[in-house]
This record gives sequence, structure tokens and C-alpha cells, in this order.
Amino acid sequence: MQKLIIKGNKELSGVISISGSKNATLPILAASILAKKVNLTNVPLVKDIFTMVELLKFIGIKVKIKNKKKIIEIQNKNQNINTLAPYKLVKTMRAGVLVLGSLLTKYKKAKVSLPGGCAIGTRPVDLHLLALKKMGAKIKIKDGYIVAEAKNGLVGSKIKFPSISVGATENALLAAFGAIGKTTLLNCAVEPEILDLIAFLKKLGSKIRISGRKIVLESKILKKETVNHKIIFDRIEAGTYLIAGALIGKKIILKNINTKILKIEIDILRQMGVKISILKNSIIILKSNKLKKININTKPHPGFPTDLQAQLMVLMTQATGLSKIQENIFENRFMHVSELKRMGAKIEIKNKSAYISGPTKLTGAEVMATDLRASVSLVLAGLIAENRTIVNRIYHLDRGYEFLEQKLKKCNARIKRT
Ligand code: UD1
Repeated sequence: MQKLIIKGNKELSGVISISGSKNATLPILAASILAKKVNLTNVPLVKDIFTMVELLKFIGIKVKIKNKKKIIEIQNKNQNINTLAPYKLVKTMRAGVLVLGSLLTKYKKAKVSLPGGCAIGTRPVDLHLLALKKMGAKIKIKDGYIVAEAKNGLVGSKIKFPSISVGATENALLAAFGAIGKTTLLNCAVEPEILDLIAFLKKLGSKIRISGRKIVLESKILKKETVNHKIIFDRIEAGTYLIAGALIGKKIILKNINTKILKIEIDILRQMGVKISILKNSIIILKSNKLKKININTKPHPGFPTDLQAQLMVLMTQATGLSKIQENIFENRFMHVSELKRMGAKIEIKNKSAYISGPTKLTGAEVMATDLRASVSLVLAGLIAENRTIVNRIYHLDRGYEFLEQKLKKCNARIKRT
């Protein structure tokens, strides 16, 4: 099994180009089922994307990945379509469940494996199903599969989500694309990745209006034979390198970003005393000597993202005083804490909150990654630790971080994969 070996305590300096967003590419790949021909650019070449591509191919869609140019070409000839998403593909990547909305609305039936829980929480799909049922789908759960049917097609409806879910909003949007009439979705997630999906659906021919957490979708005429779309930048990857810069950067420059989308991350880091200069499509992070404690709550966008909580916690170990993170999205997302403690961090968990005392010198250790963002937090900790850190089970990292070691190495980090 592969691992990363990091020799820490080496100042970073250089330019990091941020990749396209994994969490935007996944629903847009699912949405490509609705189209005829799609060319996606700025696609991150990470494991989850390859898994989604496998799933599309299994369904009968033609997909070509052009690795060098980071392009995915998709063609749906509507021949030999298999409206099934098997367990073996959905179990490794929950976003596989997003093909449900597209398949059901286009082919009037779908059988999609229940994704099940994962390390960070139980992660049910009841909100996805609620939306589809409201649009007229008949749904049964059988042998671990969601078996859905809409013989006469889905019908536009008014749906209010009882709580905010990224995936359920995406599945509902995909289903609404092919539904008859107007769909109004209330209490939606409005993450930048959802806005990217909406931009894509508009190119396919949908009329979509957003105001606050309300999204109204009408019409689904396939306007164009071929749709071209450039995936937005990965704000979580950008946030991760912002934190790396704040931890041990002399001068790190992040490129290919939209600084407006990183508002909350930049605000929080500035409140902690991190020196950041904002240019048009790039950010400069300078060495920050004295970091201040902070309290944060994870929230749906535009709040602080749960996907950056573990990384920010590492920065908090270097801030003076007692910082606090309250995790409000997932019930079991502090698994990095025990590993960070093995590296010397002083962290206590009480209910939904972690209390981090700092500043604390971290020392290298052999640690184990448990999920995608927890894994990268251990890499960040390794970058500032004395001696050597070994991060095991890095397949989690490969699910979502493109060229992680290469990007860090370019900034002088001593990191290697064995
Ligand atoms: C997406 C992101 C993930 C991020 C998360 C929250 C992708 C591929 N993944 O995951 O990186 O951490 O948003 O920003 O984009 N819930 C229910 N019932 C449902 C659906 C969700 O109770 O039917 C709960 C979940 O268990 C969780 C909360 O709602 O507690 C938010 O989850 P959700 O926004 O759906 O996350 P994902 O779409 O799975």
C-alpha cells in the first residue's frame, strides 16, 4: 500500500496552480447523461472522477479522457443504455447516486445502489428520494438498491427540503431537467459547485432562476448538439493550500482561482492573522508569525465548509490560545484528531466541538488517513512537524487531490510517495 513520507519543517515558496473542482465535475458528469455531446475542460484527474467515468461507461455512455489537456469528451447516443448503477461503483464514491436523477428523468427508470454510510457519518439519501417522489417517482428499496420508476415521466413540483443537502439539491435539479412543467426547490444548497451545475444545465437548455436558497427550473429543450463547459476551480483544494501557506509558506501564490468564491476562507485566515494579498485571479500568502485563536462553525455555503475543517484545525494548533471548531454537517468528522494528537497536538472533543490549544510544536509520526480531508490535514501537519511523518492509506487523498506531492514539491516541500 502506498504511503507519503514527509520531512517537515521546511519553508514553502512557489506558485501552485489550482485544479478544477472534483465536486463540480461529479454532478456535471451525471448531468451529461441528459445531453448528446459534452466537452468538459479543466477536469481534475483524480480517482473519484475516474470512478464516475467508469459508471457512465457501464450505463452505456461513450467517454474519452484526454489526460494531458484535462478534457473529458462524452457522447450519449441513446443506444444500449443500462439504467443501473451497481454497488461496486457506488460504494467507493457516494456521488454515484447522482445518476439517479438523470436516468430517471430521461429513461423513466433507474436502479441505483444505496451508497451506504462512510467514515464521516451515516450519510442517508432520504432527501434525494423525497424530491424524486414529489416529482412522481415510485421508489422501492430492494436488496440494497433504490429501484425508481416514473412510467409517464416526472412532473415538475414544489419541493421544500427539510434540511440543506448538496447531493439532494443536485439530484433534484437533474431530475427536474426532464420533468414536465416547472420545479421550485426551496431550502437548497447553493455551493459554488451547484452553481456550476446550474450553469451547465442552462447551456443544455434549462431556464433556471436562483434567489437565496430558492431555485426555479423550467424547460428542458436540448438546445445544442454539443455543450462545452469549463469546470470551476476547486475551492477546497485552494483552501487547503492557503492553509499550507499560512502554516509554513514564505511566499505561496495560488493561481487559477476566483477570489470572490474564497471569501469566507480568506476572512477566517485574516482574522487569524494570516497575511494575504488578493490579486485578480490569484492570491499571495506570506509568512505569518503570530497566529490568533478563532472559533468557527461549519455550515453550508456561504458558511465555512466542513471540507476544510480538518485542515484549519492544523493551523489552529499553531495559534495562540484556545480555538474551537463546531462541526455541524457530519456527525463523525473528527477522526483526524487522534492522529494529530499522536503528533503532539492538544485537542479535546466535546460533543460536536473540538477545542484546540496552541501554539504546539508538532513532531513527526506514522499516521493513518481515514478520509479525504482528514488525510490532507495529516499531510499539512507533516509539513510543519519536526522529523519524519509517514501518512498511510493515501488512497483517500488520491480520490480528490490532483498532483498533491508534485504541487508541494514545486514549493520545496520534502515529500515523497513510496
Ligand atoms: C457534498 C460534498 C462533500 C461535502 C458535503 C457538505 C460532493 C461530491 N461531496 O456531499 O464533499 O462535505 O457536500 O458540504 O459534492 N443528509 C441527509 N439526507 C440526505 C442527504 C444528506 O440527512 O438525503 C445529511 C448528511 O448526512 C449530512 C448533511 O445532510 O449530515 C449534508 O450532506 P450533503 O450536503 O448531502 O453532502 P453530500 O452531497 O453527500
